[in-house]
Formats: sequence, C-alpha cells, structure tokens
Amino acid sequence: MKLRKDDFGKKFKWGVATSSFQIEGSNTVDQKLDSIWDVFTKQEGNIRNNDNAINACNHYELWKDDFQLIQNLGVNSYRFSISWPRIVKKNLISKNQKGIDFYKFQIEELLEKGIKPFLTLNHWDIPQIFLEKGGWTNRDCIDYFLEYVNILSCEYGNLIENWITHNEPWVISHLGYSIGTHAPGIKSFGDYLKVSHHLLLSHGKAIPIIRENSKNSEVGIVLNLTPAYPESDSPYDKKETLLFNQFFNKWYLDPLHGNRYPIEIIEQWKTKGYLIENLNFIKDGDYSVISEKTDFLGINYYSRAILKSKKTNNKEFPIKNFSGEKTKFGWEVFPDGLEKLLIDINNDYKPNKIYITENGCSYDYSVNKAKQINDVKRINYFKSHLLACRNAIKKGVPLEGYFHWSLMDNFEWAEGYYHRFGLIHVDYDTYERIPKASFDWYKNFLS
Ligand code: FCB
Repeated sequence: MKLRKDDFGKKFKWGVATSSFQIEGSNTVDQKLDSIWDVFTKQEGNIRNNDNAINACNHYELWKDDFQLIQNLGVNSYRFSISWPRIVKKNLISKNQKGIDFYKFQIEELLEKGIKPFLTLNHWDIPQIFLEKGGWTNRDCIDYFLEYVNILSCEYGNLIENWITHNEPWVISHLGYSIGTHAPGIKSFGDYLKVSHHLLLSHGKAIPIIRENSKNSEVGIVLNLTPAYPESDSPYDKKETLLFNQFFNKWYLDPLHGNRYPIEIIEQWKTKGYLIENLNFIKDGDYSVISEKTDFLGINYYSRAILKSKKTNNKEFPIKNFSGEKTKFGWEVFPDGLEKLLIDINNDYKPNKIYITENGCSYDYSVNKAKQINDVKRINYFKSHLLACRNAIKKGVPLEGYFHWSLMDNFEWAEGYYHRFGLIHVDYDTYERIPKASFDWYKNFLS
C-alpha cells in the first residue's frame, strides 16, 4: 500500500536529527571547554583511523547554510543537541555568553523558518572537567548538570517547547563505562551500573526545573531500544532473550515508568561473575524521582537482536550473526521490529506520546560525475520504517513524530568518518554538502 504523509495526521512532527559533537567542529573557539570526546579522540587508537572531530562538518561556521537545507527539505522539526562545554566556564556554574548566543541565534533562525527545535541537553559531549570531578559516577555531580539545565531553560525557556534530557543512557553507561569503547573509555562494571542510575536520577531531577523555567513545554528522554528475539523456542534462547531485553531495554524503561530495576538481570550478572558489590547507590526516594512523569518518550530504533543459546561463561550476550540484509554497520534491516516495539511499548508502559527520535542507516555510495548520490538502499530503509510507523499508528500507538538520523554525514563516534548516515553527503575536504537521492525522496514525500 502506498505510503502517504496524510496517514500520519496533520500535527505529525517530521524531522531530521543531529548532535553537536558530531557536526560542529570549532572545538576550541569562543571559550569552549574540552569535552570528554575531545580528550578521547586525541588518544591514539580510540577512534577508527584515528579520526577526530576537530572540524567535523564545520557546522559551527556553516549552520545557516545547513538550516537552509533543512528548510528546503520541508521538515517541520529539527532535533539537535547543545554542547554543554560551550555553555559554562571552568567552575561549571558561570555562563559562557558566546556559547549561549551561538545556540540562541540558531533557535531563533529555526523558528523564523517555521521549524520546531527539539533540544537535547546531553548527547554525550559533557565537559572533561565534569568528568574529573567524578562525572556521572559521582552522585553529587548531578548538581552541575542541573545548573546547566537551569541556565539553558532560563535562557531558551520562551523559545523551546520540546526538551530532551539525555540521549541513550544505555550507550553512555555501557559503551562509556563498561566496555570503554566510547568516551570516557572506562571499563568498570560497577561504574556502569552507577552511571546508568545517576543518569536516570538526573533526568528526573531536571524535569521540574525545565517545567518551571519553560512554561507550556514538553520534556522527555531518548532511549535506544533494541527488541530481542529468540532464535528458537528452546528455553535457553528464551532465557537469553529475556535477559537481553532486561539489560538493554527494561533497565531504563522500567524505573522511568514507576517500576524497579528488573531483578533477573541482576541475579544473572552475579552468576556470570560480574562484580556487583551492592546496589547501595540506589537511595530511598530515587525511584520516585526517576519516574517523574514525562510528556513523551523518544525512541531511537536501528535494528533488533536475535539471541541464541550458547552455554559458556562468556559475559557477552550470545547474539546471532545475521546473514540477511544488513546496513554497513552490520545491523539487520528489520522494520517489523519497529512496529512491534512501538506496539509493545505502548501496551506495557503507556507513554503519553512517542517520537521516533532517530532511525536511519549507514551505506556507502559514491558521488557520480553529475554530482548525484543514488542511495537507493537508504530510500528503501526509510520507506519500510515509515510504513512500520504508520502501521503502529493505525493500531493505536500515539506516535507523533519521526526524526531521520541524520541530516548529513557526520562524525560517527568510535567509528570516525567511516560511516555515512546522512541524507546529505559531506565532503570532508571542502565541506561541500550534496543532497542525496534520499533527501529528494523525503522532500517529495513531504510536499
Ligand atoms: C545513535 C546515536 C547517534 C548516532 C547513531 C548512528 O546511537 O545517538 O548519535 O551515532 O547512533
């Protein structure tokens, strides 16, 4: 059946998404502090090809041109993030006016263009100084984050209606603190658990501050959710699937929606030999802070995981190597997973509304002589996932927006520039932007 924009309703938020560190560059100008990613990318061997984001897409200088492209695309919304190290001075309390103005001009320009800004407060590039004070492992440090939230919500409170506290706490805690492939590169299971808890706690504490300073706004958090499927009906596969789901999804979804952390995964971690001294970083009253009601849930969906039994002591989850259609990242193209995920989340947690805050794919396509990029696979991925969204809406899911990742190719964290997720191609030598065929597809779909 043909996909039509009208099927999504008149108020649907159509957007694209980016994040500060991945696109801005200019990492030392206008008194910006170092972020943990500035430090991490400087250390040899952390990033594929030792790439860095010193220039990234040079969006810091080219943002007006980029906003023109967003307007040409015809979306009505844009999700981006603020670089915390641009906003504060070394004491993490005083304001850096230059940084504040940089984003204020952007927000005003977006509003002038009729594009609704969705602002993410933490898309990972936190100040190095914050880390040195203990960062997310130190409960007291949450107050610094709240200072930052207070500054931004006072400054932009009248302009911004959609606030996102954190992007993907699982990635921050697991990749950053457990396996250490992301900044700050720490490998400590105990820290991982603490970080996940403190992120959720800081989210809950930020909500009333934002509501106070930005009346009539909506606040939410963005989770990366990966639905898990057993490879077979065997009890082993089913058990691994349940555990994966608890580890990856429910560890965040449950406390945010008034439940406790899922217990089976805690028991399992113990039997797998993880060092869990205790969970005494969870204090009385924390659960009620974390479950402060939000206005929306942001979901980033890329793929699913298939779990198979593997009776070893290995600490890794036994994820099946998928041999079907994959993106360059090796992630299975599985739009049905998105439809099912949306329906399950709606049934299990009943969020007020849901936005798909990221969905997209990395593929390699070269620029031809006529300067065209015919990224057919991205168009197919895009269409099939929008169909999944539409089906979920038809089945009663309150899905009210979709943001494609990403507006343009950018610095893909530990993968450097190896992956290209954009609707717009970026030439990293000249910073020229070339809209891909998928950009035109989205534009035609929206018009
Ligand atoms: C998500 C991140 C985003 C981007 C995509 C590909 O996990 O939120 O910044 O890197 O993956």
